[in-house]
Amino acid sequence: MTIVINMRDGLDEMKISVAAKLILDGKLVAFPTETVYGLGADALNGEAVKRIFEAKGRPADNPLIIHIADFSDLKILAREIPKEAKLLAEKFWPGPLTMVLPRREEVPHVTTGGLDTVAVRMPAHPIALALIRASTMIAAPSANISGKPSPTLAEHVVDDFYGRIEAIIDGGETKVGVESTVLDLTSERPTLLRPGGLPLEDIERVIGEVEIHPAVRGKLVNVAKAPGMKYKHYSPNAQVVVVEGPRERVRAGIAELVEQYHSKGLHVGVMATEETEADEFFYLGNTTEEVARNIFRALRELDKRGVDVIIAEGIEERGLGLAVMNRLRKAAGYRIVRA
Ligand code: TXA
Ligand code: MG
Repeated sequence: MTIVINMRDGLDEMKISVAAKLILDGKLVAFPTETVYGLGADALNGEAVKRIFEAKGRPADNPLIIHIADFSDLKILAREIPKEAKLLAEKFWPGPLTMVLPRREEVPHVTTGGLDTVAVRMPAHPIALALIRASTMIAAPSANISGKPSPTLAEHVVDDFYGRIEAIIDGGETKVGVESTVLDLTSERPTLLRPGGLPLEDIERVIGEVEIHPAVRGKLVNVAKAPGMKYKHYSPNAQVVVVEGPRERVRAGIAELVEQYHSKGLHVGVMATEETEADEFFYLGNTTEEVARNIFRALRELDKRGVDVIIAEGIEERGLGLAVMNRLRKAAGYRIVRA
């Protein structure tokens, strides 16, 4: 049995206390954050966290992010808090930044996928913060079946988990649309493990140059630091192809591809920033922020409309564009067409 708790009209403390009780009882509650919906459980309850892995079909070596509501809680989770972490937290928390720090023994192994580090973030969403404050620190991966696009609407969570978790809090559409930026602060130099909702440029303005893990832009190389990188990601049922290149050429490239797939008798969907002739079309918006907010939804919706192929427009890798392109290339299994 899954209860869907409607909070689209804003925070409701009575309803929060119902959800908080479930978390404290070791149950699973999906909730909105500013990035995407999370599938939450009590972070320090190993048994509860284990159920997250089972529900998602997530490999046990892919660790979870722990969500906190107060900076002081970081001391319970992390053995050391480097000065970069303090600076970044001061500037960007609550917000879409996850920091990887040395783990304290108290954090269950199941939560950190057996690693000696722990990933922590403070989400910038009133419902998420209220839920944490009314219960405890919450471990939460994105609330999608492993390998599927992340959920930006409660409906997406319903599609993947209805009947399999105790509750889903519906807080409407998430604002950022891509997951948090993951920054490792346990290596010699701060290293970007996953581009996300907080642009790399913003981080570098505070702590100087950040190393970029090679897997961020291309196929993976060394996965020891970020186990999540090696798994299939964000894939709808349809085949995805990304068209990359200068903007003028990308448009023509997409049109050409639509023709090619049509000639093979395929049903074609396009997700782009300009209206394009296709069987199904999803408009991504005209700013990088809008595109970020829409990509996962576009992948899920075009899939629902039953297309065989999804052609996605590539955008520039600046600001949120780095996160967008990372997600699109993964969704495409690195099937990239250069226009
Ligand atoms: O925005 C977000 O981050 C969302 C919302 C719900 O907060 N959560 C999310 O969680 O995207 P998930 O589990 O889908 O992605 C977490 C990523 C994975 O790639 C995982 O491998 C990495 O963070 N991660 C977690 N703990 C880590 C650690 N100790 N060291 C390195 N990477 C870690
Ligand atoms: Mg995820």
